[in-house]
Amino acid sequence: PKITYITFDETQYDVEAKEGATVMETAIKNGVPGIEAECGGACSCATCHVYVDEAWAEKTGEPGAMEEDMLDFAQDADERSRLSCQIKVTDELDGLVVRIPESQA
Ligand code: FES
Repeated sequence: PKITYITFDETQYDVEAKEGATVMETAIKNGVPGIEAECGGACSCATCHVYVDEAWAEKTGEPGAMEEDMLDFAQDADERSRLSCQIKVTDELDGLVVRIPESQA
C-alpha cells in the first residue's frame, strides 16, 4: 500500500508501505522527517503525532483509549489527530494521506 506524508512545509513523500508495519515505522524507514517516535511505538511519547486526511478518517478509525490519553500531550491535537505508531498499514489504507504537525517540523 502507498502512503503519502505531507510535512508542514508542504513537502510530499509518497512511500510504499509494508502491510503490518505501522504508519510511524514506515515514515522512519523511508526517512520522512518530523516523526520522531521517541518511545519506539509504545504509545507513550506523542512525537509521532499526525493528522489523518478527512477522507481517510473512517478507514483509520478512532484512537484507542491509551492513545486518546497520550494525544492530550500532543501539541495542536484536533479531531484529525492520531498517533502514527497506532495505525497499522493494511491494503485498505492504500493511498492514505497524513500530515505532520507544525510542532514536529
Ligand atoms: Fe511514541 Fe507513537 S512512537 S507514541
